[in-house]
Amino acid sequence: MPIVCKSAAEIEKMRRSGHVVRQVLEFLREMVSPGVSTMELERAAEKKIKELGAKPAFKGYYDYPCVLCTSINEEIVHGIPSEKRVLKSGDIVSIDCGAVLDGYYGDAAITVPVSGNGDLKAELRKLLEVTEASLYKGIEQARVGNSVGDVGAAVQEHVEANGFSVVREFVGHGIGTRLHEEPQVPNFGVRGQGMKLRQGMVLAIEPMVNSGKPQTRVLDDKWTAVTADGSYSAHFEHCVAVTDDGPLILTQ
Ligand code: MF3
Ligand code: CO
Repeated sequence: MPIVCKSAAEIEKMRRSGHVVRQVLEFLREMVSPGVSTMELERAAEKKIKELGAKPAFKGYYDYPCVLCTSINEEIVHGIPSEKRVLKSGDIVSIDCGAVLDGYYGDAAITVPVSGNGDLKAELRKLLEVTEASLYKGIEQARVGNSVGDVGAAVQEHVEANGFSVVREFVGHGIGTRLHEEPQVPNFGVRGQGMKLRQGMVLAIEPMVNSGKPQTRVLDDKWTAVTADGSYSAHFEHCVAVTDDGPLILTQ
């Protein structure tokens, strides 16, 4: 499949689907507290997406069963919401949500502490801060004339300078009329290498950062990716358009 560059009108549509995803995530952020199950988040997300006139993007994608991915503590990505997974104080939970509106996809993720940030262990607070900051380092490089490697290198350098590690087995992606388009957008790389970025490309940049070693493993449910060493993992994601005026975040 070739790279699809989007027109200004298409980018505007993606800003609208991105805004749906953002509204859902901000609603869920407020819901996160001890005693709430990840299935409650799932049901709220499904309702909210409908109310906003959009459709869920993940449900049915490669037979994935839910609207959200909810990944707790050592779970990196693709955790499946469950009545049995009840959040408790001191946990961190990554919430990843996708929606389609008017044929265009939005995809974003946040990682949220369960109960206040102040109650979080210092190491975990740092993991969340560094992961989110690394996303913005990557976004800053999403410029015409830069390459995919500039994005990955910026993420990787920030993460490793802070003593954490970047997951290699899962990567960001192009996005548009499909959830996953080319190019792949790794959260590691070498400056100047990889595909050149052009006006109208839209990238889902999504660093997955482990507090320990980078290796991963997938659970028997065939979806949930966890850290091989049991360390904590955080995940933040935005969709970003590459424009002549610089990076434009669509999932605001
Ligand atoms: N944000 C993830 C991604 O871009 C979510 C996909 S989960 C799936 O790959 F269930 F839809 F596969
Ligand atoms: Co994504």
